[in-house]
Amino acid sequence: MTASIIDGKKIAQHIQSTTAERVSQLKEKGITPGLAVILVGNNQASRTYVSMKRKACEKIGMHSVLIELADDTTEEGLINKVNELNEDNTIHGILVQLPLPSQIDEINIIESIDPNKDVDGFHPINVGRLMTGGEAFYPCTPYGIIEMLKYEQVELRGKHAVVVGRSNIVGKPMGQLLLKEDATVTYCHSRTADLAYHTKQADIIIAAVGIRNLITADHIKDGAVIIDVGMNRDDEGKLCGDVDYQNCLPKAGAITPVPGGVGPMTITMLLANTAESAERTLT
Ligand code: GUN
Repeated sequence: MTASIIDGKKIAQHIQSTTAERVSQLKEKGITPGLAVILVGNNQASRTYVSMKRKACEKIGMHSVLIELADDTTEEGLINKVNELNEDNTIHGILVQLPLPSQIDEINIIESIDPNKDVDGFHPINVGRLMTGGEAFYPCTPYGIIEMLKYEQVELRGKHAVVVGRSNIVGKPMGQLLLKEDATVTYCHSRTADLAYHTKQADIIIAAVGIRNLITADHIKDGAVIIDVGMNRDDEGKLCGDVDYQNCLPKAGAITPVPGGVGPMTITMLLANTAESAERTLT
């Protein structure tokens, strides 16, 4: 068997065109969805991500605002800025790019964002509602993975999904979203003893640890669906995931490449969440 390759770019484009349609319907009703992105300091990778997010917004007709703050911004200064955006009716989504400089406590910042504008889905209210039900924003990367699996018609109900990784941004919410889809979920992580024992039982593996080649062909069963969230660099500086792609390809049922797999889905779901936030103001 050779795996089918899941084309994240194609799926992202499909969802973005649906979101663009939602944006034009909102505009007809007098609402332009607006996303505010706050960038603190000069982290080059963050700057690149933020610029990609803004371009994607503008491409589908959303309003986007970039607030750049100095590296020595205080926690209070940042919270004041967030509060201003919380009160601003033209802004439906607020994203504070992480990581933040060390003088600022990320948790305090996330908690200062109005949960109704928390399009990252990081606020404890949204995290809690993901678990208990109710209207929530879901974190963009795991939400995008669920949409990707649905687009590919991967059956989740009753399937065994092994999530490798336990971050607040990807691993933890990923497991919750899979549970909502009636999958049986196992969490593993970088300290799991005998990782292969667990992953070999998986119908679906989500690799989100940040260790290159962590998942090899010996870690997977025939026909498994492999989703690679890793963003690492190989010896030549090329982007690569957590999965040994070339060796898993002949054994897996379906697999996401890096780049061109999960990556494009994250921004796509940020746009979808911002459109949803704007739509909620209508009801
Ligand atoms: N830094 C890396 N990924 C993310 C993300 O999804 N949201 C925010 N706010 N910061 C990040």
